[in-house]
Amino acid sequence: MLSVRNLSASFHTRAGIVRAVRNVSFDVAPGETLGIVGESGSGKSVTCYSMMGLIPMPPGRIESGSAMLDGTDLLRCPEKELRAIRGKRISMIFQDPMTSLNPYLTIGEQVAEPLVIHEGAGKKEARVRALEQLALAGIPDAEQRMDAYPHQFSGGMRQRVMIAMALITRPEILIADEPTTALDVTVQKQVLDLIRKLQQDMGTSV
Ligand SMILES: Nc1ncnc2c1ncn2[C@@H]1O[C@H](COP(=O)(O)OP(=O)(O)OP(=O)(O)O)[C@@H](O)[C@H]1O
Ligand SMILES: [Mg+2]
Repeated sequence: MLSVRNLSASFHTRAGIVRAVRNVSFDVAPGETLGIVGESGSGKSVTCYSMMGLIPMPPGRIESGSAMLDGTDLLRCPEKELRAIRGKRISMIFQDPMTSLNPYLTIGEQVAEPLVIHEGAGKKEARVRALEQLALAGIPDAEQRMDAYPHQFSGGMRQRVMIAMALITRPEILIADEPTTALDVTVQKQVLDLIRKLQQDMGTSV
């Protein structure tokens, strides 16, 4: 499904060159879960951001390598093409759901946004599907809670919202960058179980 070869990424800062990722290669098969483990600062997040085209350039630079998704090299693909892929075929959930959600938009608006952007869904349809997806992600009373704002949700609930938003377009690949570190242990388990269940239902690679 996804094939990364010899990915190297660096940051050219005033203090020198930081070689954040060096020669990383891996493959992810359809429906498979691949885990990447490493100490803090070893380049896990930069690997994910590189594939999503989310490295700030400058100071960031992709030095070499490829990340092939069905014949498209994500590392070299023009921004316009990447925008059509990101959030549609590949979605990402982040470490900290508070800074990843927009405090000014309701939960319902945010979960529906990928449908509006990628599928041109109308307001009504997007809302109905957002409601469905929030319920699948285990948000109780989703109908009422859709109109709430992120600060009115707990950390675990916010991570469920992120998962709902990431999976609403039924992406082929979900990149999860330590999506449970900010949560306490019992909630971590619930969130991991949820990701596994949705993955099995949809056949997503994680
Ligand atoms: N914008 C940036 N400018 C300069 N250096 C950066 C930038 N972003 C990341 N780095 C550096 O790249 C290296 C890899 O960082 P990365 O965030 O990928 O680590 P990580 O494995 O995800 O760590 P953690 O487990 O703490 O999340 C680190 O040395 C970090 O300081
Ligand atoms: Mg990280």
